[in-house]
Amino acid sequence: MMKDLIFATNNTHKLDELRQILAGRYNVLSLNDIDCHEDIPETAPDIEGNAVMKAQWVHEHYGIDCFSDDTGLEVDALNGEPGVRSARYATDGHDSEANIDKLLGKLQGVTERSARFRTVIALIRDGELHTFRGEVEGEILTERHGMGGFGYDSVFRPVEGDGRTFAQMSAEEKNAISHRGRAVARLCEFLNP
Ligand code: IMP
Repeated sequence: MMKDLIFATNNTHKLDELRQILAGRYNVLSLNDIDCHEDIPETAPDIEGNAVMKAQWVHEHYGIDCFSDDTGLEVDALNGEPGVRSARYATDGHDSEANIDKLLGKLQGVTERSARFRTVIALIRDGELHTFRGEVEGEILTERHGMGGFGYDSVFRPVEGDGRTFAQMSAEEKNAISHRGRAVARLCEFLNP
């Protein structure tokens, strides 16, 4: 029988991707699938702490193996901001357009625009915690380019690539070099050796 594994998210795009990769090995359940509609605490000072906090919370409440992910954009000229606050940089909600406006405003006139996305995945399997990381280096442009992706994609140009932003790439192109793609690959190597 296939083992249940909770992915502490309701993001259908992320779920589809993981279900595809782990098909036949794990039955990947979302928070909706387990009827969890609570606000899981995410109050740690860094993305690693938040990923671990979410996975531990779900494991404690549901007793099923579980993993969660957390991502942040770190801009060097802003001392690593927005970092752990990437989703709620400008407002309390997840308003990506307002977040980008705030970021571009803070970087007005700044020429050193290096940045990176970092993802941490925390897995609790058989009661043990494992973490997996992924990073991608790039720079923040001065204006938006491209319509694809989400979040800060339209202003992030990865160093590896041909000059396009993440928002100008297909999902496959982005996943092949992205922070989350790399962290997910490491998780899957571990689960699916
Ligand atoms: P989450 O931890 O995946 O929810 O990501 C937190 C925030 O980081 C999101 O609300 C987005 O603003 C941003 N973010 C995460 N992943 C990406 C990405 O792949 N591209 C652009 N922005 C991202």
